[in-house]
Amino acid sequence: MCGIVGMIGSRPVSPLLLDGLRRLEYRGYDSAGIATLTNGVIDIRRATGKLDQLAQRLVDQPLAGHVGIGHTRWATHGKPTEANAHPHATAKVAVVHNGIIENYRALRTELEAKGHAFASETDSETIAHLITDYLDQGLTPQQATAASLKRLEGAFALGIVFVGHNDLLIGARRGSPLAIGFGDGEAYLGSDALALAPLTNRIAYLEEGDWAELYAGKIIIHDAADKIVDRKIHITALSGAMIGKGQYRHFMLKEIFEQPAVIGDTLSALTTPDDALAMPPLPFDWKDVPRVTIVGCGTACYAGVVAKYWFEQLARLPVEVDIASEFRYREAPMQAGGVTIAVSQSGETADTLAALHYAKSQGQKILAVVNVPQSSIARLADVTVPTMAGPEIGVASTKAFTTQLTVLLCLALTAAQARGAIDAARAKAILHALREIPAQINAVLRDEHHIQELAHHLADARDVLYLGRGLLYPIAMEGSLKLKEISYIHAEGYPAGELKHGPIALIDENMPVVVLAPGGALYEKTASNIQEVAARGGKVIMISDKSGIAHVGAKTFWNIALPETDAAVAPLLYSVPVQLLAYYTAIAKGTDVDQPRNLAKSVTVE
Ligand code: M6R
Repeated sequence: MCGIVGMIGSRPVSPLLLDGLRRLEYRGYDSAGIATLTNGVIDIRRATGKLDQLAQRLVDQPLAGHVGIGHTRWATHGKPTEANAHPHATAKVAVVHNGIIENYRALRTELEAKGHAFASETDSETIAHLITDYLDQGLTPQQATAASLKRLEGAFALGIVFVGHNDLLIGARRGSPLAIGFGDGEAYLGSDALALAPLTNRIAYLEEGDWAELYAGKIIIHDAADKIVDRKIHITALSGAMIGKGQYRHFMLKEIFEQPAVIGDTLSALTTPDDALAMPPLPFDWKDVPRVTIVGCGTACYAGVVAKYWFEQLARLPVEVDIASEFRYREAPMQAGGVTIAVSQSGETADTLAALHYAKSQGQKILAVVNVPQSSIARLADVTVPTMAGPEIGVASTKAFTTQLTVLLCLALTAAQARGAIDAARAKAILHALREIPAQINAVLRDEHHIQELAHHLADARDVLYLGRGLLYPIAMEGSLKLKEISYIHAEGYPAGELKHGPIALIDENMPVVVLAPGGALYEKTASNIQEVAARGGKVIMISDKSGIAHVGAKTFWNIALPETDAAVAPLLYSVPVQLLAYYTAIAKGTDVDQPRNLAKSVTVE
């Protein structure tokens, strides 16, 4: 999604804005631009494609100025052309925008009728003209901004500069996040704290409807009613240095390899070394909860599907899990006393946020499982249990997913104990197995070359089917999503038991079928499905433990042997080979692994 940076101070801002944009690259974008105020005019450089194009343009035509705004655009309204790239400007203001202005057509018609000439197809340009219209009526920049914000419908984070006001930068938020950075004699705004990491560690997060005046030595924040308010300043722990790839070729690979450490960190925060839970206090008692609702998007939603099995099997607590974009509009009746769990890496996903607003309006307690503690979802929740994955830069989620699973399993075990649904020995055994997961993942990672070799065979496939049962069904869906996202190969994740009800028609000698078949109660059932696929000439890629592979009784194309583990924690372990398989298939195909086409890391618009 679009990324925003802004800066005001006494040094040239253009190189710093470009650096801020590089830190936002991971969000996904297809064009970029920077505007500064110089000699009483707005000076803009924009370019389509990667930031290197913009950087080259800045080398050819440098930008001076001590106040400016920058933007990476992920196209929504209008193609990724230079004309549609931000900043959008009139003779009086320049604007960068993240979000969608839903009433832009009506506003544009109104402004065009007044003589405003538009240069792009975007909804964002409307904001520049609207503010200009108020300036033309004699309002100050602050008044014009406040008046314009009241006319905008939809979601936005904005950065605005005004001709003739070299000492002023304005930021605003509704629906999309915006961080404000406090410097010494400088002030900044950014879509997230990461963008501002080398400039400051003192960050305030604008609340819904807030807007802020940024001056070189002062920041004034207003709420939605234009009243001056204080917002807490957080000291962020993000490193000033660019978060790097280290020895790895891609962030995704680095993040896959970080999993043993970050799962370990997450577990250390939630358990004791003697296999007991040490969860933060919750504002409800699991004993009294009649029903849990879990919402999320993409990978986060699949973590929720795994959690459904855990809560239902271990805690005997009914769970509904839904894709947030569906849940937000389906007007689900919600039971009094219910808990809604939001799962999100970024904590900014627009649909998940909207689903939570609905759940809150229905009297539900909100529990957030997020990776960014200051995110909008965390702030809306009654309680947050954070994943400790650290910044995840690769668009394809990996370590965020397995740390989400870690937190969700600990929550399910807490609920199980509170409800008396699990005996102490079984709870201890699961926690013990969970504590062994980091070491077992390390063993899988040591064997990555075996998966790398397999990926060469997968790279030519047109379609790939992933099968799993029970707790492994969501991992089949997650494996197929990973492959689609970064290798652009069509893939589907199916419950293995559904094979005979349709997908089996797809099986022929060209169809690779990845089957997740850990030991446990469902092993024999899945082994039967493997035989059905093999009997029809399908290429079975079997992921199991040594004993599972030895006893399958069917000809498989490739076997990936994982350490034996308790069936309850298998989703964590079995996530890793499907991540590696997607990664190396993408490498074999030569795609852009960390920033796959069309995808955004954090989906802050609907
Ligand atoms: O930040 P979130 O966890 O809320 O993001 C949800 C999805 O957009 C995200 O998981 C997406 O599916 C990833 N690209 C998956 O790899």
